[in-house]
Amino acid sequence: MSNLKSLIHQQSLMSLNIVILAAGQGKRMHSKLPKVLHHLAGKPLLAHIVNTAQQLNPAKIFIIYGHGGEQVQAQLGDLPVQWIEQTQQLGTGHALKQAMSFIQNDARVLVLFGDVPLISAKTLQELLAITPNNAVGVLTAQMPNPAGLGRIIRNAKGEMIAVVEDKDTTAQQKEIKEINTGILTASASDLKRWLPALNNNNAQKEYYYPEVITLAVAEKMPVYTTQLTEIEEGQGVNDRIQLAQLERYYQRQQANKLMLAGVTLLDPTRFDLRGEAQIASDVTIDINVILAGKVIIGANTYIGPNTLLRNVTIGQNVIIKANSTIEDAVIDDACEIGPFARIRPGTKLKNNVHIGNFVEIKESEIDEGSKINHLSYIGDTIIGKKVNIGAGTITCNYDGVNKHQTIIGDNAFIGSNSSLIAPLTIGENSTVGAGSTIRRDTPAESLALARAEQRIVDNWQRPKKKNNQEK
Ligand code: UD1
Ligand code: CA
Repeated sequence: MSNLKSLIHQQSLMSLNIVILAAGQGKRMHSKLPKVLHHLAGKPLLAHIVNTAQQLNPAKIFIIYGHGGEQVQAQLGDLPVQWIEQTQQLGTGHALKQAMSFIQNDARVLVLFGDVPLISAKTLQELLAITPNNAVGVLTAQMPNPAGLGRIIRNAKGEMIAVVEDKDTTAQQKEIKEINTGILTASASDLKRWLPALNNNNAQKEYYYPEVITLAVAEKMPVYTTQLTEIEEGQGVNDRIQLAQLERYYQRQQANKLMLAGVTLLDPTRFDLRGEAQIASDVTIDINVILAGKVIIGANTYIGPNTLLRNVTIGQNVIIKANSTIEDAVIDDACEIGPFARIRPGTKLKNNVHIGNFVEIKESEIDEGSKINHLSYIGDTIIGKKVNIGAGTITCNYDGVNKHQTIIGDNAFIGSNSSLIAPLTIGENSTVGAGSTIRRDTPAESLALARAEQRIVDNWQRPKKKNNQEK
């Protein structure tokens, strides 16, 4: 233990520089989008790995970019990293070399891959902790199916002596299940000596960076290895099957965390969190729910099946029924929403509001106890307390150029199929007759009717089909 402590101590004297290799094209993705911009849990692969790198508090993070460089920087330009271009993708050894002139000799370098997104900060810390300054540290994993990966070669004493890439393996080496995750740490001065000495005499005619191991061993430098316990942490994304596998693994981890914290997931394999969620205990989440962005859900709330919640805060005892979409909204306690409701950005529902089927609400505030139960569009509207909005009511908020506001006072009753032409104020306790088109403000306590009087034509004969038209 004291040994490990002193190693960690030594380590901390060297500044840590993290280099993330992300210039490859990702041929096997068959995509116009650079591989590292493909999403896992709603976030680019590269953003996952940069977030993990940040948790290690390095002096600097470098990203080697190349293929689709402008796109990568445009999407991730605000990350606290230094971008280094690799103009030609000649292999991982060539990629790492691009960073070395930016790194001081006395620094420790940790190399990560942009396409190995789920490595944890804890694992990386362990690797750094076991690797003394004058040594190389390599993170390995036992993979049941190591096809396509670099194999770890060990000598009779069990010491790691080389990595052999899959395409360069002998039949015997192909059987080795211990693989190179690509994650390695060494001192900058050592890497600066080894990287220019690499060659590309191999099956892929590329400069392989794991060959620095062979050079280290030739110098009798010790190579320390640590093996992953969760192999998914070391899994790379080379094609869309692997991307989907890692997505499922990641989602399962998130689902498990929520369940352990008291959230009921009716089927954890049909739950997706693409962002961050704070979910209170005794919340029930039905199947096929997607939570995106930042989602906060209060105790005892039920989220029905096939529901999308993006950037929403939901209170306690709320019921969200099936097939509803809620984005950038705040829903207070005991509201009932759906089925098939669409709550759009800028909506705020106070306590006990009911929003029913096929109702769309945008940029509106609805006060306590009000109900909009069927087939309505409410936009740019402020609705008071205990208002009833009848089926099919539309706020006509758009004149083709500008948006206008509607204000509806407490206790108002809007009859079914009314059009409320904004800008408009409907008085408190007032009533709008069904089927009205209201374009002038209505006073409190009034009845507003704006529809044609009913006419009766007696003995009305509906047209009849002619014989020769009959089938
Ligand atoms: C690499 C390792 C292999 C390891 C595996 C683990 C090498 C030669 N092989 O193989 O031992 O088992 O990862 O996932 O390192 N890149 C560049 N510039 C280049 C080439 C690649 O920046 O010129 C980047 C890629 O964007 C990627 C990473 O380096 O993020 C790895 O490259 P990739 O081609 O995917 O290597 P693998 O064949 O997976
Ligand atoms: Ca890879």
